[in-house]
Amino acid sequence: MGGGEAMTTQPKPEGNYETATKKFVAMKEGSNACIFTDKWPRSMSEINHDAYFRALWPMVKDHVKEWTFLEMGCGRATTSQYLAYAGLNTGSIALLDMSQLGLEMAGENFQKWNMIPPRMFQGDAANTRFDDAQFNCIYNVGLLEHFQDPKTILREANRLLKPGGLIFMVNVGGANHSGWGDFRTNSPCDFFVKCMEEVGCHGSLCVPFQFPDVSVLSYWKPKA
Ligand SMILES: C[S@@+](CC[C@H](N)C(=O)[O-])C[C@H]1O[C@@H](n2cnc3c(N)ncnc32)[C@H](O)[C@@H]1O
Repeated sequence: MGGGEAMTTQPKPEGNYETATKKFVAMKEGSNACIFTDKWPRSMSEINHDAYFRALWPMVKDHVKEWTFLEMGCGRATTSQYLAYAGLNTGSIALLDMSQLGLEMAGENFQKWNMIPPRMFQGDAANTRFDDAQFNCIYNVGLLEHFQDPKTILREANRLLKPGGLIFMVNVGGANHSGWGDFRTNSPCDFFVKCMEEVGCHGSLCVPFQFPDVSVLSYWKPKA
């Protein structure tokens, strides 16, 4: 089979990286290229990302010395910047995004704050090609809602997660967010928990978090 033929038979990865990339181009010109702040958060983006970090931090703070972290669909990698500012060594973080521009912005944002940028990987969050059980904490803000079937991401996250590790995913809903229909307007939390069950992650928790329609999904993988 020729290379071109093989390319056309590959399913196109799902996600919002093309629209995200367009947004990143605009952000680069504007004031929200970097929304990490060590001051009191003021814009809605700053307030939201500060709040997501505050939800994640108590779950990981006692493990920062020994754990490895993966931000899937990192974009500007705001949450990773918060973690680094709070004391996480960026050497223990991997950033993954389909968008080269997102990764570039993430790198610049770390440099802006004199933080050493984490390792970066361009790739599909549904098919990362990382080995099994590589990370203790897998997190993102604003990824799952862009997938018609978020199980592709959740299954991959569970494969990459070490026993005893944590999945933490913030889902930014809104009825028109991606046009995937009912699950956002009805009960996104039930939907995400059901997806987790279906990929074998039993006992996950998903709670409404902020208006409008933000939910936080968390899962502790049983220790081996
Ligand atoms: C809403 S943005 C995340 C924003 C991020 N929290 C920040 O601080 O900028 C979602 C990100 O997911 C990425 N993405 C979408 N689909 C993806 C996929 N299949 N694989 C990897 N990354 C993907 C997009 O490129 C985008 O950067």
